[in-house]
Amino acid sequence: MPYEVPFVDPRAHYARLKEEIDAAITECLTRGDLVYRQQLRTFEEHFAAFIGTRYAVGVNSGYHALLFALFASGIGPGDEVITVAHTFVATVSAIIHCGATPVLVDVQQDYTMDPEQVERAITPRTRALLPVHLNGRICDMDRLLPIAARHGLSVIEDAAQAIGARHRGREAGSLGQAGCFSFYPFKILGGFGDGGALTTDDPEVARLVSLLRYNGEDRETGEYHVHGQTALLDNVQAAVLDVKLRYLPEWIEHRRAIADRYHRGLEGVPGVSLPHFPEEIQQDVFQNYVIRCAARDALREHLARRGVETLVHWPKPMWAHHGLGLADPGLVETARVCREVISLPMSAETTPVHVDRTVEAIRAFATPMSPVES
Ligand SMILES: Cc1ncc(COP(=O)(O)O)c(C=O)c1O
Repeated sequence: MPYEVPFVDPRAHYARLKEEIDAAITECLTRGDLVYRQQLRTFEEHFAAFIGTRYAVGVNSGYHALLFALFASGIGPGDEVITVAHTFVATVSAIIHCGATPVLVDVQQDYTMDPEQVERAITPRTRALLPVHLNGRICDMDRLLPIAARHGLSVIEDAAQAIGARHRGREAGSLGQAGCFSFYPFKILGGFGDGGALTTDDPEVARLVSLLRYNGEDRETGEYHVHGQTALLDNVQAAVLDVKLRYLPEWIEHRRAIADRYHRGLEGVPGVSLPHFPEEIQQDVFQNYVIRCAARDALREHLARRGVETLVHWPKPMWAHHGLGLADPGLVETARVCREVISLPMSAETTPVHVDRTVEAIRAFATPMSPVES
């Protein structure tokens, strides 16, 4: 049975942009513009201008943006890269796949990398920091960037969830050596399948990643300069993303307004913590609207019964997935977050009525309960 309040609504999303998207796809298909054509270059130019970097390189996933950013920073076997365990698995898999060792640190209250723990995790083998701007909020770069500079470390931003988020007026993805973005369909800027981009001001990084994504080939000369991968952003996908990019500022405003409505509706509800963190330095884009509740699983079931679809990012710490072969790093906050977080409906199609229904349902859950410690 479909939810009355869906977490996201891809059909409604397509319906509102149908004309423009269909026209962009039809143009590519009728002209035969399928691989590495003008639409890709145009999107890359527009995307770089949006982020405020000199270059943007389209790749076929956020994972590949991360992997290539690590390769381009010269990271490989014997090196350590510090990141968080509270992230999508691709962040850590990219480190493993370039032969380096992920060193996992805990998160702060706002779910981003704890700079104090980073300081303690640095060893002579550390080569890079990989901060993850989770849920639409940028990490504490005022503290992380000086730590990296002091220790001579590269900074690769995982901005997959933070397109359009700002730190002192600068965009996520423009603060380190490279920014890594995902266009997975349910991201704020989502394509119709997998896609991603790497942003950078460094011409060497841009050039190397352009080669790596195209099996090492320089498209102009046909020369293979490096063993690369098949990981180009599809041309049709780029054409669609270019259409959607025009709406991005509007969608970000919408998400912030939806977050504000959740905030007003849920403020003071016993046992529920809200994701409204100081905004003087970082401006949040609310990729996810994440609340915390010690009775999370019961709350989730209650919401489902009332027609509200929610997700949990993520119910189990990464190291507890034994197939990943990660040692338990003993991250107390990360383990607790996994037990308590729940993501409420949030997308460009979420309406005030959806928010009010969700708020009402959460209030009905909270009322008969004694306050829950959070
Ligand atoms: C924080 C984070 N990092 C990396 C990725 C990987 O992106 P993709 O799924 O496009 O490979 C995602 C996407 O889900 C993400 O949320």
